[in-house]
Amino acid sequence: MAVTIKSEREIELMRESGRILSIVHTELAAMIRPGISTLDIDKKCREIIRDFGCIPSFLNYEGYPASVCVSVNEEVVHGIPKKNHIIKEGDIVSLDAGVIYKGYHSDAARTIAVGEIKPEYKKLIDVTKQAFFEGIKFAKPGYRIGDISGAIQDYAESFGFSLVRELVGHGVGSALHEDPQVPNFRTKQKGMRLEPGMTLAVEPMVNFGKPDVLWLDDDWTVITADGLPSAHYENTILITEGEPELFTIERK
Ligand code: MF3
Ligand code: CO
Repeated sequence: MAVTIKSEREIELMRESGRILSIVHTELAAMIRPGISTLDIDKKCREIIRDFGCIPSFLNYEGYPASVCVSVNEEVVHGIPKKNHIIKEGDIVSLDAGVIYKGYHSDAARTIAVGEIKPEYKKLIDVTKQAFFEGIKFAKPGYRIGDISGAIQDYAESFGFSLVRELVGHGVGSALHEDPQVPNFRTKQKGMRLEPGMTLAVEPMVNFGKPDVLWLDDDWTVITADGLPSAHYENTILITEGEPELFTIERK
């Protein structure tokens, strides 16, 4: 599949999709506390998205059974919400959700600390978020996908953390996953040149320890092989003539 350059109309729909998703994330973050189940988060997510007249983009995506991926501690991504998975003080909780508005997807993830967490895990969360911002310094015409990837990698590794190899960022638009892939690490090829109108989900997944991951028997949940925590931060962005526009960040 080729990379699509979005029209003004498509960009406007993605902007609205992203605006709604940023509100979803704000509301979900506000409900995270010890004692709630990961299924409670999913119910709330589905309700908010439907109240906006939108569709939860992950629900039934390739059989995924929920509206939000809730990945706790050593879970990297795609954690399936469960009634008996109770959030506790000291957890780090990654929430990844997607919204479809009039056929257009937005995709974003946040990692949230539950109460008091170990300072080194707070650092992991902060570095993962900042790795995204380091990466998108190169999200403009004149650079390539690989420049974003390299900046994310260099920043996260400079703190001794590691980047997951098996999962990558991606184009996003009328489908949740479009070309091109956006790795969080350098690859042999530098990747395509960035052009105005491209829309990308840039999403560093950063492990506290080693980069290796495993899949649980549910065929979704990705965990770190060493059992140490992992953090995730993602936004849907638009390449413009200048600085990228971030669709999934709440604007004041
Ligand atoms: N947000 C994920 C991504 O960035 C997609 C989740 S897959 C799903 O690629 F099945 F959970 F939807
Ligand atoms: Co994504």
